[in-house]
Amino acid sequence: MLKKIEEYEIEPYLKLLGEVEHERLDLTDLRHEAWLRRRIHLNYARGAHYIALHDDDNPEAFGIVSVLHEPAPPGIEAWGARAEILQIGVNRSCRRAGIGSRLLAAAERFARDRGVYCLFLMTYGEDYDVIAFYGKNGYIPVASIPDVFGPGTEGNLVLRKVVSS
Ligand SMILES: CC(C)(COP(=O)(O)OP(=O)(O)OC[C@H]1O[C@@H](n2cnc3c(N)ncnc32)[C@H](O)[C@@H]1OP(=O)(O)O)[C@@H](O)C(=O)NCCC(=O)NCCS
Repeated sequence: MLKKIEEYEIEPYLKLLGEVEHERLDLTDLRHEAWLRRRIHLNYARGAHYIALHDDDNPEAFGIVSVLHEPAPPGIEAWGARAEILQIGVNRSCRRAGIGSRLLAAAERFARDRGVYCLFLMTYGEDYDVIAFYGKNGYIPVASIPDVFGPGTEGNLVLRKVVSS
């Protein structure tokens, strides 16, 4: 079952969203928890939509994706042509079972319904498994920002998919 998640409903997904952000984010550290809550709050404030997927027969099988589409001001339609996947995560015990791909498909439907042409995202350039996941779902690497986290780090890879029909 797919469900739009409002900010007040985010609690069950907090741990997973922490893992999505960084493997060293530790929610027992109150400063890390506050950082994550603030990030999620700012995503909602910008207009992000959070969509969760749950398997009705297995409470362990769930995931969540957030996608940001900012409607264009009247007369500047091109600004509405883009949308960004901000976060995606699947509960660890249920990965490689298609949940992540179904979440991406839901984000794509959401974007397409709003007239989006191009859905894009950024991921860490060294997350080869994640890049493989996006590649399997039709997301093409189009750019890299090598030093976005400072010298000696892998930086971000930008991937995109044309979703207009
Ligand atoms: C990335 C993530 C969302 C994928 O979700 P998922 O439900 O496991 O993905 P799917 O089952 O739909 O995978 C589809 C395909 O993606 C690729 N893929 C997914 N996980 C992979 C892995 N660990 N290694 C290699 N390929 C992988 C495979 O091609 C897979 O198809 P296959 O299983 O038939 O080989 C999930 O692994 C996750 O939550 N990771 C931690 C959070 C994270 O890194 N989020 C992204 C931050 S940008």
